[in-house]
Amino acid sequence: MKRNNNNNNDPQTNKHNHAYTKTTSHQGTRIAKATLFIIFSLFISAGLLDLLGCLDLTTFTGLKQVITKKTIKKNHGFPYQCNNQTLNQIPFSKNQIYKTNHSKQSTCPSYFRWIHEDLRPWKETGITRGMLEKARRTAHFRIIILNGKVYVKKYRKSIQTRDDFTLWGIVQLLRWYPGRLPDLELLFDADDRPTVRSKDFLGQHHPAPPPLFRYCSDDVSLDIVFPDWSFWGWAEVNIKPWAKSVVAIEEGNKMTSWKERVAYAYWRGNPFVAPTRGDLLRCNVSDQEDWNTRLYIQDWVRESREGFKNSNLENQCTHRYKIYIEGWAWSVSEKYIMACDSMTLYVRPKFYDFYIRGMMPLQHYWPIRDNSKCTSLKHAVHWGNTHLDQARKIGEEGSRFIREEVKMEYVYDYMFHLMNEYAKLLKFKPEIPWGATEITPDNMGCPAIGRWRDFMAESMVMSPSEVAPCEMPSPYDPLALREVLERKANLTRQVEIWEDQYFRNLTNAKKP
Ligand SMILES: *[C@@H]1O[C@H](CO)[C@@H](O)[C@H](O)[C@H]1NC(C)=O
Ligand SMILES: *[C@@H]1O[C@H](CO)[C@@H](O)[C@H](O)[C@H]1NC(C)=O
Ligand SMILES: *[C@@H]1O[C@H](CO)[C@@H](O)[C@H](O)[C@H]1NC(C)=O
Ligand SMILES: *[C@@H]1O[C@H](CO)[C@@H](O)[C@H](O)[C@H]1NC(C)=O
Ligand SMILES: *[C@@H]1O[C@H](CO)[C@@H](O)[C@H](O)[C@H]1NC(C)=O
Repeated sequence: MKRNNNNNNDPQTNKHNHAYTKTTSHQGTRIAKATLFIIFSLFISAGLLDLLGCLDLTTFTGLKQVITKKTIKKNHGFPYQCNNQTLNQIPFSKNQIYKTNHSKQSTCPSYFRWIHEDLRPWKETGITRGMLEKARRTAHFRIIILNGKVYVKKYRKSIQTRDDFTLWGIVQLLRWYPGRLPDLELLFDADDRPTVRSKDFLGQHHPAPPPLFRYCSDDVSLDIVFPDWSFWGWAEVNIKPWAKSVVAIEEGNKMTSWKERVAYAYWRGNPFVAPTRGDLLRCNVSDQEDWNTRLYIQDWVRESREGFKNSNLENQCTHRYKIYIEGWAWSVSEKYIMACDSMTLYVRPKFYDFYIRGMMPLQHYWPIRDNSKCTSLKHAVHWGNTHLDQARKIGEEGSRFIREEVKMEYVYDYMFHLMNEYAKLLKFKPEIPWGATEITPDNMGCPAIGRWRDFMAESMVMSPSEVAPCEMPSPYDPLALREVLERKANLTRQVEIWEDQYFRNLTNAKKP
């Protein structure tokens, strides 16, 4: 069995494919498979749980030789000249002159304020080399930015090509804001679950925590969150770079008007990556119960074999309600689900990525209990179908948030500000360690083939930003922060109160 499988983060969650209707005879095998996967997950490190990783892991790496004229010709303008290292000098001047000044509109979205919170553990002490080196324990690679160039030193291979696409993103960031990134060294762990537990670093006498970058964190960890690789594309599952996906999904939104959408809660995904997803599947409609859901298992092996013909993200906005649920950690599927202007039913998460902290229940999504999913979903759909305009508004606001406040420009701004704030804390002079190599669009793009190459071409920054980065908002004062969290909790509680009332009313109505 292949185990270098990717995780949970299945976009699979969105996959919409009526061609597969599961038959009961498959149930047994699937459960067996689920058990196997869950058992494996106890032994192997986080995030190795996808059914897919076997497919293409080798396609990107190890093909440095295969640079043919043919592939270069196909992608006009990308990379520029694979046999002639001239790419980096092309149109990038060090001191870009921006066409617009900072203005009120250019203040960053509010979730940028969390950058201050994520870096707070080092606010007093700064970051010493000693602290940084402690993060080596689980890191996949070290990024060094020095004099406007990026270098990488790899320690171990990540799942699929997450690391390559993350590095690709950073190379693009330097093209977007040339000459603006500070010198720095940072360590990155490309697995799913956070590893820096805050309880190990509490109190005066404990060592400072290691600063470690990754794609998500949780309330008991200090990992620093950074945009995940899928913003530049997830080639293994044919998910295009975000800028392109988001346009396609917006078109998809127009295909079915909101009121004509199926009036149930929809989910399609791989339930075997985490017990909570198995739990969700128990809420499917059956002869005995109708929880107002339509849940499907995504058969990724088949989907990949058939060239992902049925997994277009833009064809998935057909239900009024779409469920988001985490997998092994946060799920990449989140932004594609939110981008549909269906109302997102958001199962209470354990993890957060960099932007979710800017979203509010009842404004951007509808909160769903994780310890009573079925009743919670049933009520949510009932509420939506009896409050059509409000439900639709929540759907649209969630979709607007993801399209406008998490657009690629802001993703770059987030990286930019995070790296700048982080670099301010460094107490040592960044150096290029032995064995590190510079990464450039050429040396990453030229060896790539197939979808890997296409996605790099599509996500390549072709000219620097004409606009300065948005203005970094100031930190929350502790009181304001507490209020935001309290408001979030209150709104969630409000929904739970409605829910309990609804079921009490139902029970009462049944009494003679
Ligand atoms: C490489 O680039 C130089 C300068 O742009 C050009 O003169 C030369 O013909 C190029 N060589 C090849 C093999 O493309
Ligand atoms: C930016 O600000 C400067 C000085 O305030 C001003 O001279 C310039 O015209 C402004 N540029 C734009 C594009 O608004
Ligand atoms: C859920 O119910 C629908 C409708 O009966 C069915 O088509 C689908 O296969 C079920 N999903 C699962 C995962 O059993
Ligand atoms: C949250 O709810 C409590 C109790 O109902 C209330 O006292 C408090 O003001 C609310 N906080 C916010 C920020 O809405
Ligand atoms: C439950 O019943 C009460 C009294 O009839 C009504 O005011 C309330 O709106 C109902 N709540 C829900 C959630 O249906």
